[in-house]
Amino acid sequence: MESLRKSLVDCGQEHLLRFWDQLSENERNELCKDILELDLVEVTSYYQKAICTSSCMLTNTLDDKVSPIPKGNIASVKTTNKDTLKMYEKLGLQEVADGRVAVLLLAGGQGTRLGVPYPKGMYNVGLPSGKTLFQLQAERILRLQNMAEEECGKRGEITWYILTSEATHDTTVAFLSEHNYFNLKESNVKTFMQGMLPCFTLEGKIILDQKHKIAKAPDGNGGLYRAMKVQGILDDMTRRNIRSVHVYSVDNILIKVADPIFLGYCLSSSTDCGVKVVEKSSPNEPVGIVCKVDDTYRVVEYSEISKVTAELRHDNGQLVYNAANICNHYFTVDFLCSVGNEYEKEMELHAAKKKIPYIDEDGRRNVPTSSNGIKIEKFVFDVFMFAKELAVWEGIREEDFSPLKNGDSAGQDCPSTARSDVLKLHKKWLLNAGATSVTDDVEVAPLLSYAGENLSHVQGQSFGGPYVLE
Ligand code: UTP
Repeated sequence: MESLRKSLVDCGQEHLLRFWDQLSENERNELCKDILELDLVEVTSYYQKAICTSSCMLTNTLDDKVSPIPKGNIASVKTTNKDTLKMYEKLGLQEVADGRVAVLLLAGGQGTRLGVPYPKGMYNVGLPSGKTLFQLQAERILRLQNMAEEECGKRGEITWYILTSEATHDTTVAFLSEHNYFNLKESNVKTFMQGMLPCFTLEGKIILDQKHKIAKAPDGNGGLYRAMKVQGILDDMTRRNIRSVHVYSVDNILIKVADPIFLGYCLSSSTDCGVKVVEKSSPNEPVGIVCKVDDTYRVVEYSEISKVTAELRHDNGQLVYNAANICNHYFTVDFLCSVGNEYEKEMELHAAKKKIPYIDEDGRRNVPTSSNGIKIEKFVFDVFMFAKELAVWEGIREEDFSPLKNGDSAGQDCPSTARSDVLKLHKKWLLNAGATSVTDDVEVAPLLSYAGENLSHVQGQSFGGPYVLE
């Protein structure tokens, strides 16, 4: 007890024992366990580091350090000719057929803006099929395996790794099992948990969530790298002879999991690290942009550059800083191993101001209405600087990106926009395939078509919804 108290005093965290005298034996044990699980020196230094990064971001713009992605490192689906696109697609499908592809879903977030009491992947946005985000993704994986087999005459299996956190793990695992892994093989669906970090007051004190419990939050989607090493995922990938990993966010309803064209582009660039972006919708869209800062690649937040820089345009009218980051990444397993074994400790830490329930001086639990503390997060894209090269592929927003972040009252990035973006895209596929008319509520099942292919049988037909083409 005395050594525990001393180490807390040394780190300025002795307030964690403030209610010790009021705790039961069990509660005392729980609190001790919570504290002993932390490396106090390390986590308090995280606070300092995160605060430092965030205040640097607020005070200095990066205007004189940024430059756009060099032409040789970026290509766009819009301007790449058909033969080259076909070549990329074949390369990607061959990688799938050879069993060298994994997809890695980031699903450890708390989804506070959407505000449902279950993991976001279980959300049903109200498509005619009623499918959840998890189901849409699983079925796209199945379809892709079939496409690769048709193209290459060989069946490869894609492993679906799912990053969860204490906030999402148990419910996610139970949901996938209840739904029989949506017909993927159970052995090819692997969940693993990211770490948690304590939450701090704005003054750097660890917050108590209960008198005997520390307030903790997942360590950000960049917690992926440490979790992959610690939980044996890197070893599992190596054992399965996987080379290419597609990492993506759970809430993008249009996500093309392991998009073979993107994979093929990265493979043909022989890069260890790739990112898919879309064109920024307007100079003031609040998204991160992929660019260079001095000699390294980074995602620069909207707030880190001035309005003037954000509005710079080329002669053809295109924005100079145009590559919007959509949390869509390619990594080789070799690269992930080098991050896990070597670079992970050097990753930046970010401080996000949040509303964190806390126990006040009088021992009462409060749920604040404005930000009162800090969560420390690592970001998945903060490893670009460790890559030998970065290959940037520009997709098309209407085909690649529609995130579910908010409830419907926000009017954007919400269930209604996600639903209508899917249905708009499917309508376009059907009309392109020769359907004569299609209403706005016709859905194409992922098992039938991954990206608009395999629909020639709809020629001359008209479709009225709500309806699902299976
Ligand atoms: P967001 O940053 O949008 O966070 O995550 P969120 O948790 O989904 O939503 P809010 O901010 O609380 O409303 C982008 C992606 O990163 C994952 C999320 O699950 C989502 O796929 N993520 C986020 C993690 O896997 N772990 C984290 O600690 C944070």
